[in-house]
Amino acid sequence: MSLLGTDLPFPVFRRGKVRDVYALGEHLLLVATDRISAFDCVMPQGIPDKGRILTQVANFWFHATRDLIPNHLVATQVKDYLAELQPYREQLEGRSILVRRTEPLPVECVVRGYLAGSGLKEYQADGTVCGLKLPPGLRLADRLPEPIFTPATKEDEGHDINISFERMAEIVGEERAAQLRQVSLALYQRGVELAAQRGILLADTKFEFGVLPDGSLIVIDEVLTPDSSRYWLADTWRPGQNPPSLDKQFLRDYLETLPTWNKQAPAPDLPQPIIQGIRERYLDLASRFGVEV
Ligand SMILES: Nc1ncnc2c1ncn2[C@@H]1O[C@H](COP(=O)(O)OP(=O)(O)OP(=O)(O)O)[C@@H](O)[C@H]1O
Ligand SMILES: [Mg+2]
Repeated sequence: MSLLGTDLPFPVFRRGKVRDVYALGEHLLLVATDRISAFDCVMPQGIPDKGRILTQVANFWFHATRDLIPNHLVATQVKDYLAELQPYREQLEGRSILVRRTEPLPVECVVRGYLAGSGLKEYQADGTVCGLKLPPGLRLADRLPEPIFTPATKEDEGHDINISFERMAEIVGEERAAQLRQVSLALYQRGVELAAQRGILLADTKFEFGVLPDGSLIVIDEVLTPDSSRYWLADTWRPGQNPPSLDKQFLRDYLETLPTWNKQAPAPDLPQPIIQGIRERYLDLASRFGVEV
């Protein structure tokens, strides 16, 4: 059974594509449902246990990166939440976190070590990604000479738009932009190292950051999950080919085979083997990080 949504008696801060977020004073309660999105559309069916997998993988990374930058985690177990939340333990345990509420910066901080997705599209059009010139002749899944920081805007409606570092600096300020680039690259590097020990390549990922009332920067949202990252199996990775992956690519690849869906809501029903295929990939990733679901 999948949990497609929650209906808790607390003020709703936001219902995202994947998470239901409740406002609890200076804190937020982030509840990861089993919803899955692709091409910015939420699928009609959920992936059983996905919310728990996502939450536990993100928690692994929050711990494994806290020497690089503080994060928004306040509590990860329901017993440590406020008394009013205790009656909802069954629903919340394992798939929710209590976090510090921040002012989110209106940019997505993407780091790419390999060429795929919107980076590949941009490169094929004009040889650059977010204004960064790359060497000629790169193919799908090629490793880049070094990881690159390729920010995007956060759009409420529709796809995020890739922007140059200069454009980002206009939005958040020069100093903040430099800080975001440095921290994002360091987080990505940590991700690459810990993934490599588990037989996987971290091809790219997206971070979100927020600012606390004292002006300090913390990493928010989710970190290095299979929803926010591309994870490829190291031993089957071949530049030029679509690499077997432990993330959403399996779903995107399936959706691309449908002749009639135009990538606008409503999304088509997912067949059972596709739901199972996604679930197995997310579980495989989680088990490599020793994450219990
Ligand atoms: N500590 C935090 N402070 C403020 N907002 C947060 C914090 N952590 C996460 N968020 C916000 O909560 C939402 C999480 O929901 P979800 O990821 O499902 O949304 P989404 O559909 O991906 O939307 P978005 O494109 O805004 O991320 C996001 O909008 C994210 O920016
Ligand atoms: Mg999100």
